[in-house]
Amino acid sequence: MLNFNEISDVKHRDFEEVMKIYKSSFSAQGREPDNIIRKRIQEHIFRLMVGYWEGRAIAMSFFYRLKDKRFFLLAYIAISKKFQNRGIGSKLMKHMLHVVKKDAKGQYLLMEVESPKYGKSREEKEKRVQFYKRLGAKELKGIYYTFPPHPGNKPTEMILMLIPNYPNGKMNGNLVKKLISMLYTDLYRKDKSDNLLKSMISNVPPYVELA
Ligand SMILES: CC(C)(COP(=O)(O)OP(=O)(O)OC[C@H]1O[C@@H](n2cnc3c(N)ncnc32)[C@H](O)[C@@H]1OP(=O)(O)O)[C@@H](O)C(=O)NCCC(=O)NCCS
Repeated sequence: MLNFNEISDVKHRDFEEVMKIYKSSFSAQGREPDNIIRKRIQEHIFRLMVGYWEGRAIAMSFFYRLKDKRFFLLAYIAISKKFQNRGIGSKLMKHMLHVVKKDAKGQYLLMEVESPKYGKSREEKEKRVQFYKRLGAKELKGIYYTFPPHPGNKPTEMILMLIPNYPNGKMNGNLVKKLISMLYTDLYRKDKSDNLLKSMISNVPPYVELA
């Protein structure tokens, strides 16, 4: 049987198993270092949802509340390889959405998803986009957004997705600018004057469509 439990202490007996799933699912470039993750969990900045199959930790997600409390960012989600493609990822997403909605202010889950239009493994990236779309995620259209690059690396082009859709399927550009700024300054510890951040923000149109 599948069930979920939130863990808020790195000393929890399942935490190391969760870190194994996390580390085997994301490349060193694509994930935050262990010490940052541990610190964020311990300081209750990141929340951790764990999925169990017959008592064994096989799925995990880190999520994070933005300063605009209506929005939670899904920072990472991963299912143990052997357990993928059995609907567990979808169930974990639905459970997280339920948790977000139960929160007094929480309304939306925001996701940064690698854009299938760029780089390698485009088919896999497209599959991931479809995974979120099947759960009702909408893409914030017409904006350019990347992860802040590691020194010496190129930025990774991302799309931002939101569940559920924003009212009328569009968002004021100023709100999108704020969300991008919150991600860069609070989550990625960049300065407000970061050049990449400034250029991304300056290119956000007055209204952003979600589709
Ligand atoms: C993406 C992921 C969370 C989906 O979980 P899951 O339990 O396998 O998903 P479900 O069984 O509910 O849904 C299956 C769908 O997930 C997507 N999917 C499954 N495996 C995938 C993979 N390795 N890469 C990308 N998408 C995948 C596909 O859309 C698939 O549908 P399809 O078979 O019709 O193409 C899981 O595959 C995973 O942990 N991948 C590695 C880590 C990752 O890419 N995380 C997301 C980025 S933060």
